[in-house]
Amino acid sequence: MIKWEEIKQEVLHDIEEADSKEVIDKLKVDVLGKKGMMAGFMQQMKTLSPEEKREFGQKVNELKKLFESTFSARMEELIEKAMLEKMKKEAIDITLPGARPYNGSLHPLNLVQQEIEDIFISMGYSVVEGPEVELDFYNFERANIPQGHPARDMQDTFYIDSERLLRTHTTAIQTRTLEALHDKLPIKVICPGKVYRRDDDDATHSHQFVQMEGLVVAENITLSDLKGTLELLARKMFGDSRTIRLRPSYFQFTEPSVEVDVSCHICGGKGCPVCKGTGWIEILGAGMVHPNVLEMAGIDSKKYTGFAFGVGVERVAMLKYGIDDIRNFYINDIRFLKAFTRFE
Ligand code: PHE
Repeated sequence: MIKWEEIKQEVLHDIEEADSKEVIDKLKVDVLGKKGMMAGFMQQMKTLSPEEKREFGQKVNELKKLFESTFSARMEELIEKAMLEKMKKEAIDITLPGARPYNGSLHPLNLVQQEIEDIFISMGYSVVEGPEVELDFYNFERANIPQGHPARDMQDTFYIDSERLLRTHTTAIQTRTLEALHDKLPIKVICPGKVYRRDDDDATHSHQFVQMEGLVVAENITLSDLKGTLELLARKMFGDSRTIRLRPSYFQFTEPSVEVDVSCHICGGKGCPVCKGTGWIEILGAGMVHPNVLEMAGIDSKKYTGFAFGVGVERVAMLKYGIDDIRNFYINDIRFLKAFTRFE
């Protein structure tokens, strides 16, 4: 007599114990394979009488079916277990802090330039640029500074040849704009750009710096328009309670010419080291466009008047952010540049 129940329990137990695909496969061959245990029973059946055959065959089939389904159930279980383990092993810990990407920032000179541009754009000005390698003609002649005039010495110039130079001021953009727009008045422009002078570099001087020139030409433009405009610029750049004062000065291309001071934003006018005890800080040169400059560009100076001003962007940036050495702007020290991320 074959002990079916014992065989059944034993095989089920072995399947339960199998803990890998390989073990299951091997066990399956041993039990259900062509030369396996169940095939052996089939072989044995041939020797039985017909009555015995029926019962025996039924038992074999029953077990075969049971084993087959148990094998595949166990196999599925193992596959799922393996997948879960793999997922666990390959899981990404999203709670780990990432490497923070380094954010660049605008250069402080660009920041200040953009700020000034925005102030004037909001008042209806447009931004105009010009070449850094400029003709003597636009830099000097058209600015009412003829060849041999002593005023040329005020701006030590890098000459390229007898006609070309590195522009010494953005007034060169002014003279170009006057010529280009002389029949399309009124003119209302702001002209930013790099300028060059043969200065020895130190804490407050640089042979290359950034200027912004403002120019307005229309009928009935007066010095008080200039004053009001610059007062607004000073307040927007240095704070609402700032005032300005004009001092007489001299530029060949403006008449009258003024030097413009802003009340000190550090001490409020009482006197401190930044304003050298005077309460005032010089920020720019300005004036009414000289009639000669208008006439040379083809503009009727009896009908039209204009004002112009030129502001140094480094100077404004140094005052605004408390920078004491102009060379900081040009040496690309990342620690200095990073300090301006928060101003954007
Ligand atoms: N061009 C002058 C300078 O470079 C500044 C200026 C511009 C003055 C416009 C008056 C009018 O110093």
